Amino acid sequence: MSELSVNHLLGIKYINEADIDLIFKTADHFKEVINRPIKKVPSLRDITIANLFFENSTRTKLSFELAEKRLSADVINFSAAASSVKKGETLIDTVNNILSMKVDMVVMRHPNPGAGVFLSKHIDASIVNAGDGAHEHPTQALLDSYSIRERLGDVAGKKVVIVGDILHSRVALSNIYALKLQGAQVKVCGPKTLLPKYIESLGVTVELDIKKALAWCDVANMLRVQNERMDISYFPTTREYTQQFGVNKQLLDSLDKEIVIMHPGPINRGVEITSDVADSEHAIILDQVQNGVAIRMAVIYLLASKIKQ
Ligand code: CP
Repeated sequence: MSELSVNHLLGIKYINEADIDLIFKTADHFKEVINRPIKKVPSLRDITIANLFFENSTRTKLSFELAEKRLSADVINFSAAASSVKKGETLIDTVNNILSMKVDMVVMRHPNPGAGVFLSKHIDASIVNAGDGAHEHPTQALLDSYSIRERLGDVAGKKVVIVGDILHSRVALSNIYALKLQGAQVKVCGPKTLLPKYIESLGVTVELDIKKALAWCDVANMLRVQNERMDISYFPTTREYTQQFGVNKQLLDSLDKEIVIMHPGPINRGVEITSDVADSEHAIILDQVQNGVAIRMAVIYLLASKIKQ
């Protein structure tokens, strides 16, 4: 297969295993490109991309912008905090005004689940979901699986535990879809209050004991507690959360094997993982960030190829 089955990347739910293979093969090529002295290719010289961020971001925003510039696309950036959204402009009006400037692709982060799907039904440009509320974060899941493949050789057959605030996590949902598509076994571990009731229907199992979860897995993906999405208390105190679900060096050393530690960032150091774990040889957190650029180059390049046809 040489093209994606979709015209937008709205979620991992909407793509298939062949799409993931194609994205990874294309990312392998771009990873080689960004390690050259001249890190830029002219592939998207005739494409204009708008990065619309209605919610805060460090990694995703910078990574998309760098990926677009490495492909020689023209890039415009929009941040809701400094825009006319503050004056009451709707999402459709905002985006249509930006598109009237002849934009081909929109990369959007939005607090509302389904914002990208909604937009794709109302505008012509190709949409890439850069995180929509607690729904999906597809490029994060792709770069996570790509990083597992890089460290362990393959994703198929690997045991991955996703730990923490599953309920509010778009990273968890996209990772579950991506890992299952590639044949990994997936467990979730966290306080019962932060595990959605439907979670087992996604083909994952639940483990409430972090020590058992770590003893089972090859990879632990540690999620941030998303306080900004919590309107009630889901656990008594942060200290108790850390005691029950946090990972420290002592816990890792007590295992009779080495496991890979991942984190999508931003890290709450000392809450979900301690610094001696985050900065250890077990952690591939900065590899994930580095791979994000190649993965986003691949996604943008493959979607842009479909616009050009
Ligand atoms: N991993 C991630 O989405 O980080 P940002 O919120 O900083 O983009």
